[in-house]
Amino acid sequence: MAKADLVIVANRLPVDRVVGGDGQPGWRRSPGGLVTALEPVMRANDGAWIGWPGGTETGLKPFKEDGLQLVPVSLSEEDVEEFYEGFSNGTLWPLFHDLVAKPEFHREWWDAYVRVNRRFAEKAADVATEGATVWVQDYQLLLVPQMLRELRPDLRIAIYLHIPFPPTELFQQLPWRRQLLEGMLGADLIGFQLPGGAANFVRLVRQRVGHKTHRDRVYLPDGRIVRAKAYPISIDVEGFEELARSESVQARAKEIREALGDPETIFLGIDRLDYTKGIYARLRAFGELLSEGDLEVGRAMFVQVATPSRERVEQYRILRDDIDRLVGRLNGDLGQIGRPAIVYMHTSYPREEMAALYLAADVMVVTPYRDGMNLVAKEYVACRFEGDGALVLSEFAGAAAELKQAWLVNPYDLNGMKAALLEAATADPKEIGRRMRAMRKTVTENDVKHWATTFLEDLTELGDGEALEVETAE
Ligand code: G6P
Repeated sequence: MAKADLVIVANRLPVDRVVGGDGQPGWRRSPGGLVTALEPVMRANDGAWIGWPGGTETGLKPFKEDGLQLVPVSLSEEDVEEFYEGFSNGTLWPLFHDLVAKPEFHREWWDAYVRVNRRFAEKAADVATEGATVWVQDYQLLLVPQMLRELRPDLRIAIYLHIPFPPTELFQQLPWRRQLLEGMLGADLIGFQLPGGAANFVRLVRQRVGHKTHRDRVYLPDGRIVRAKAYPISIDVEGFEELARSESVQARAKEIREALGDPETIFLGIDRLDYTKGIYARLRAFGELLSEGDLEVGRAMFVQVATPSRERVEQYRILRDDIDRLVGRLNGDLGQIGRPAIVYMHTSYPREEMAALYLAADVMVVTPYRDGMNLVAKEYVACRFEGDGALVLSEFAGAAAELKQAWLVNPYDLNGMKAALLEAATADPKEIGRRMRAMRKTVTENDVKHWATTFLEDLTELGDGEALEVETAE
């Protein structure tokens, strides 16, 4: 196996293993923001990517796919249930997202989390060259930095959390809170989406682990210094804009509008089907606007794309049924022949189709109850190269810290959401343009390349100069 100077360790590989109708295995791009963000970084650095290819197949060898060096980690059926669906997505995901759903605490899930994190750490220790940089990703692998440091003290290790880091009061609920904090502290640099998350972490480390801290620094007893800092993630802005400008995508956007019957206002939601995303509430708000006569069926339409996700986890099944029922009821009550209230697709689309949808929409609706960043909001802005299009955005998405000119909403406030949807739909084009241009400036100046470069540069500097700074730090 070829070794690499930059190693990404993420729960998922950037591609999922799928078996086609002809029985032949193939690869399909994985869902979610993490892959979207890191793929360009990998390509630029010629690194290796360690991750789970989906499924439970064993014995998969490292391979190259589309120019990327990929190193698969196998999960057994039990690992998938207890580590992935269990501790990662039944405990940490809801706990880190403000308890939008109730987290479950099971000791067997924790044991599986430790076991699988160790497997990832061992794989990283095998793949990294002497002195290499290893960049661990997200909440599924919080123990990897410490485990890896024990195996390979020569490495430069970082971890980035793509989801929110919760307030201390919530994190304290976790029976294994101290172990998780110590696991993360194995890194030299810990990245968060927002400064608030980094501050929560540092406070917890002080309270729960008892280390000395100063601003974004944690001082370990062995003399090591760990930094916890915010690096708001972004997207490949140029890539999306280029797609949106392409003739084929523009033609497809027109086709989509026509197929929908050329409504005056198309509202669009694109999300993984996840209870954090606030899909139910936003469709209810739209339904009420129709039934109360503020919007008219046929003239206004809501297109909702929900990408299948974590389908065996109970909360996700419940959500899917709830949304199915709501869409059915709203279309049954409000729709007319050839003019549904809501066009709902439970599927995932390639980037080209997403770009066409972004172009076809008048109002993009992104209303999570809690979201680390939300890259869909940024993708929409990147695609609107003509400086038009309205964005309704939840205050509780990390993206709201940057996209201040969106129509910001509290997704728990149904009336507020209705008012914002209506305002965005009827706003003066000049006002829409003013807001969109300001957001485009922000997004263009902070693309994913900028995110990765700043993070990796900080990491390099830490290793080189930090020791001197220690003496003068306090
Ligand atoms: C979010 C998480 C990622 C995750 C993605 C898709 O973006 O931050 O770590 O990979 O969702 O979820 P899945 O469970 O399908 O990997």
